[in-house]
This record gives sequence, C-alpha cells and structure tokens, in this order.
Amino acid sequence: METLKAIFKRRSIRKFADKKITDKQIKTLLEAAMMSPTAVNAQEWEFLVIRDKKQLIEITKIHPHAQMLKQADAAIIVCGNTSKEILPGYWIGDCGACSQNILLAATDIGLGSVWLGVQPNKKRVQDIRKLFKLPKHIMPFNVIALGYPAEKKKPENRYDDKKAHYEKW
Ligand SMILES: Cc1cc2nc3c(=O)[nH]c(=O)nc-3n(C[C@H](O)[C@H](O)[C@H](O)COP(=O)(O)O)c2cc1C
Repeated sequence: METLKAIFKRRSIRKFADKKITDKQIKTLLEAAMMSPTAVNAQEWEFLVIRDKKQLIEITKIHPHAQMLKQADAAIIVCGNTSKEILPGYWIGDCGACSQNILLAATDIGLGSVWLGVQPNKKRVQDIRKLFKLPKHIMPFNVIALGYPAEKKKPENRYDDKKAHYEKW
C-alpha cells in the first residue's frame, strides 16, 4: 500500500533546493488536505498559499523556528474558519488531520515539507493574523513550508511497545 510508504518515509525537511513547485502540485496538496476527516464533516478549513518570497521572509520575522522559509518555494497556512464550525473547538483537530494529509501528499510527490507550529501560541497566532490581515473568523493553525528537498533524512523507527496499551492500562 503506497500510503504506508509515505507514512514511514516522511520526515521534516528544512533545507530546500532552488527549484519551483508547480501550481498543479500545490493543487494536489490542497486536494489531499480537503479529503481529510472533520468532525461532523464540517470541513471548516481554509488555506492561504504563499509563494511570494517577500511574504515568506516576513513570516520568518515573526516565527522564531521558521527560518527555512527563506529557502522554501512555498508555504501553506492552514486555517480554521470558526464561522463554519459546528462543534466548537473541533477545528483544531480537523486542521491537524488535513495538515498531516498535506505532509504525506508532499512526500508522495517528492516534495519536502515541515509543519511550523502556530496554534496554540497566542503571539504567533496574533502575528500571523496581523501579517496577512486575516478576518476575525479565520484562525491560523500552522504554516507548512514546502520545496524540493536539499537534504536526505533516513526514516526513523519510533515504534515503542510500552506506549501501546491493550484492553487495560
Ligand atoms: C505541532 C507541531 C509544531 C511544530 N513546529 C515546528 C517549528 O516551529 N519549526 C520546525 O522546524 N519544526 C516544527 N515541527 C516539526 C517537528 O520538529 C518534527 O515533526 C519532529 O521533530 C519529528 O521529526 P520528523 O517530522 O522529521 O519526523 C513541528 C511539528 C508539529 C507536529
């Protein structure tokens, strides 16, 4: 099953080559994102695609752990649309699920990616909202840096028997 290959291969990539991602690839990532499960099928997500270098650099000024965006070819800011939420607060889990779909789809099509945390860091949320003039009901969840990888990372085996509990604790 191809899905398992992507799951085991995916690593955070923070070094990017000087090579363009196509619009079609971005569309594939967004299609993958919007196939993820959401509580009561609310699909209360929105995606802000950033391809402009200057804007990518602006993010590095407000996010201390996002310096790789200086080399990234694109970023997707995954957001929750709270005006579309049905069950309050579930947008966070929903955005997490669609973020993982983006990372796995990126791996599958040969792109590198890294999830840059925004939510629940109040300052980062505030700064991203200000930078992109997001409406009140649009909550940034994370920033996903994207580009062709310029580093190779080996898959890690993180399976830990002690963390798996069967029937009782
Ligand atoms: C909620 C969350 C926030 C993260 N924030 C950052 C970040 O701000 N900067 C960064 O370089 N990596 C960030 N990461 C990536 C993690 O550091 C990375 O997933 C972890 O070290 C495991 O490595 P791997 O992704 O290569 O398996 C974040 C990951 C998650 C899930």
